[in-house]
Amino acid sequence: MSPAVSGPACSQGYVEIQSGGVDDMPLDYAPEYQPVNEVAPPENEVIRVAQVSGANEFNRNLKKDKMKNAPPPEDGIHDPDNEGTFVLQPPLEAYEGLPPSEFGNYVDWVKAIDEEKINPRWDRVDSSEEPFVMDMDIVREVKASVPDVVFPHRQHTEWLSCSNCHPAIFIPQKGANQINMSAILLGQKCGVCHGKVSFPITTKSCKKCHSKPKPADWQPPLSEATLKNPWR
Ligand code: HEC
Ligand code: HEC
Ligand code: HEC
Repeated sequence: MSPAVSGPACSQGYVEIQSGGVDDMPLDYAPEYQPVNEVAPPENEVIRVAQVSGANEFNRNLKKDKMKNAPPPEDGIHDPDNEGTFVLQPPLEAYEGLPPSEFGNYVDWVKAIDEEKINPRWDRVDSSEEPFVMDMDIVREVKASVPDVVFPHRQHTEWLSCSNCHPAIFIPQKGANQINMSAILLGQKCGVCHGKVSFPITTKSCKKCHSKPKPADWQPPLSEATLKNPWR
């Protein structure tokens, strides 16, 4: 007999299974085990089993926040049963007066540094230590019709030392690294940080990275198959 399953198949929630429908299993692999009858659910009792989530549920970045920058006990990240959670400063209070953005935690952190609204310490111990800022843009020409990607070293080296990226994430040589959106969305390459500690990949943030318009005479590159096609 198979258990009767009811409830809407594709919606969130629970599936109800009628108990008492499964035959007793032979227990010769564990002869000392005695089933405890009092604990067994009575016939026809409804067991509630959590429904498998929808395809995109696992990705935190694809989920709409109920509230922007919720206080720690309500943000779904910090433990509301831990007293320490209530000691933390709520982000809305901490971010007051900082330049806004449309994604991530809704602060434009690069602008915040440029406008000297914040002055993050470069060295945890020595407050006089200065960052080694390097102003060098790397343009990555994208084969697709989206604007090309400009990777700016200046904005990154104001927060990060070279060793955060070189050589573990990127070989320091223009074009030496294979980068694509799938890798980024899976948390590799730029996605090691973007979507975790720096602005995420959303439909509103594409142009932050894809910032260099294609030349007016740009044509999509032809594939190997087309180039080698003898009938061309
Ligand atoms: C946030 C990550 C990141 C940080 C931090 C970073 N870089 Fe890079 N760097 C890159 C990327 C991405 C490229 C481009 C690689 C490519 O095109 O394949 C690159 C390229 C380079 C190149 C090659 C340039 C060329 O024309 O071939 C050099 C040299 C370099 N970085 C030096 C540095 C130095 C020095 C620092 C520290 C002051 C630094 N980088 C900090 C990500 C970073
Ligand atoms: C954090 C920076 C960043 C953001 C944000 C970003 N991209 Fe990309 N994107 C890249 C890089 C880097 C590449 C690889 C470029 C190359 O070929 O060297 C890329 C490549 C692409 C490609 C070419 C195909 C591929 O996968 O390589 C497409 C199409 C694309 N991006 C679309 C988008 C769209 C649409 C968005 C917004 C939803 C977006 N990107 C947001 C960095 C970014
Ligand atoms: C080691 C972490 C790290 C990696 C890897 C990384 N970034 Fe960033 N990126 C940051 C941080 C931190 C900021 C500044 C905070 C913010 O804007 O969220 C930033 C900001 C930016 C900005 C915003 C500049 C501005 O003027 O507002 C762009 C564009 C950008 N990153 C592109 C890229 C691209 C493209 C890659 C991959 C080739 C990449 N980043 C890889 C950490 C990283």
